[in-house]
Amino acid sequence: MTVTMDVIVSLSKRRGFIFQSSEIYGGAGAAWDYGPLGVELKNNIKRVWWRDFVQQRDDMVGLDASILMHPTVWRASGHVDNFTDPMVDCRECRRRFRADKVDETDWTHYCAATKGNKFTIKAGEPCKHCGQRRTLCPECGKGELTAPRQFNLMFKTFMGPVEEDAAVTYLRPETAQGIFVNFDNVLQATRRKLPFGIGQIGKAFRNEITPGNFIFRTREFEQMEIEYFVNPHEQVDGRPADEAWHDRWIADCQAWFARYGLDPANVKLHEHAADELAHYAKRTVDLLYRFPMGWSELMGIANRTDFDLKQHTKFSGKSLTWFDEERKEHVVPYVIEPSAGVDRALLAFLLDAYREEQVRGEKRVVLRLHPELAPVKVAVLPLLKKRTDIVATGHELRSRLGRRWVTLYDDTAAIGRLYRRQDEVGTPFCVTVDVKTVGDAEKGEAGDGKVTIRERDSMEQIRVPIGDLEGIFGRILDGGATWTDVTAGYPRTES
Ligand code: GAP
Repeated sequence: MTVTMDVIVSLSKRRGFIFQSSEIYGGAGAAWDYGPLGVELKNNIKRVWWRDFVQQRDDMVGLDASILMHPTVWRASGHVDNFTDPMVDCRECRRRFRADKVDETDWTHYCAATKGNKFTIKAGEPCKHCGQRRTLCPECGKGELTAPRQFNLMFKTFMGPVEEDAAVTYLRPETAQGIFVNFDNVLQATRRKLPFGIGQIGKAFRNEITPGNFIFRTREFEQMEIEYFVNPHEQVDGRPADEAWHDRWIADCQAWFARYGLDPANVKLHEHAADELAHYAKRTVDLLYRFPMGWSELMGIANRTDFDLKQHTKFSGKSLTWFDEERKEHVVPYVIEPSAGVDRALLAFLLDAYREEQVRGEKRVVLRLHPELAPVKVAVLPLLKKRTDIVATGHELRSRLGRRWVTLYDDTAAIGRLYRRQDEVGTPFCVTVDVKTVGDAEKGEAGDGKVTIRERDSMEQIRVPIGDLEGIFGRILDGGATWTDVTAGYPRTES
């Protein structure tokens, strides 16, 4: 189904996924805070990415470089000179716009043909009364715009106690450079042969002129980046190694997003045209996702050639090569760079998982998140909160399951509402403790020691001995088995 951004923003705030940064002070521009469920979802995305791309591959290692780096890094990388956007300012209201995007927003117009009435006109369209196109500030509709000037997107700061030019450095605008400057350290420490890659997850900062669309474009965000070093003199599948590996990484990244739930119909490839390519790239392919505002970049996979390693060699004077024992030659590797934004991935997973369904005449909102991404894996719900033995069993179960999976206990509403709450945040399993579980001591009735598990997507329920819970969840949550595989032998119960 198609879902609007407003619905996701509202769900995110209401249920504690994402809050506006510094909200009590009116908010900080384009910065967001991840709440109790958001931080779990974000950590899960990073954890499965790291496991799948770094830990489970024998051609990959990891790195965690610092955010603050030597300022020359950013001259060598080209960011000081090239990491700019053309920008125009309104002479009246002083607002600032990206010159190349100024016609992509709706504009304010005081129309002379209607006695100066104010209209908001759709982006790129003329006024239907006077036929005029936008020339003034799109926001206030009054001020003239300055000629475009280049604006560097890096956040400047000072290293040390003195605010002087010599102390200027930048918050990193990409994690990639931390990998390039450590290329030789990692090579020496791990004795790798080409091809091999270095993966890193970390914060990046860009003073975006036109941030927006919730967490899609922000000024502080997180990246999951891989720099994969290949020998350009080698052939793979009858092609130059860099070109063959580029295609493999594109396919691997596409498969990864599909594996964790993105509908392949909502993802497509975009090949950069020559005039779109970054100064360092031989070829770049983006994975686009069908976001509510239209197809937009989810991640990019670039062939950065030997640009970065050569630049850092030039600026640092240190050779950044790999010695090819067979050919007895020093090689400057080519680099394939799959680069994904954590926040953008999280937004895509949320949008793709969101469903509104009709269940027995009522609306059910459900996040069909992949179980490995779901912030809470199991909710333990007591059917009667006045029965101390039911409550005690519930707490005991929460604590036992909580050692392996994020598990919560909730007894603050009736069972139907508790299920809906968990559906809305994507909890794959609810475990209900009821009177039959614990029995009734006053009537001399023994409990059967069984609980009900309800599965989020099918809403099926099965009754299982408490002792089987860890085995069942272990097979599904850690072993990749499906609900149907695991539950075939248990009796279904009425929901
Ligand atoms: N090292 C290459 C690089 O940084 P990029 O296309 O500028 O390439 C890679 O960024 C990814 O980082 C993007 O595809 C996007 O997912 C994420 N990203 C970039 N700028 C962002 C921003 N302002 N807010 C959120 N995510 C961003």
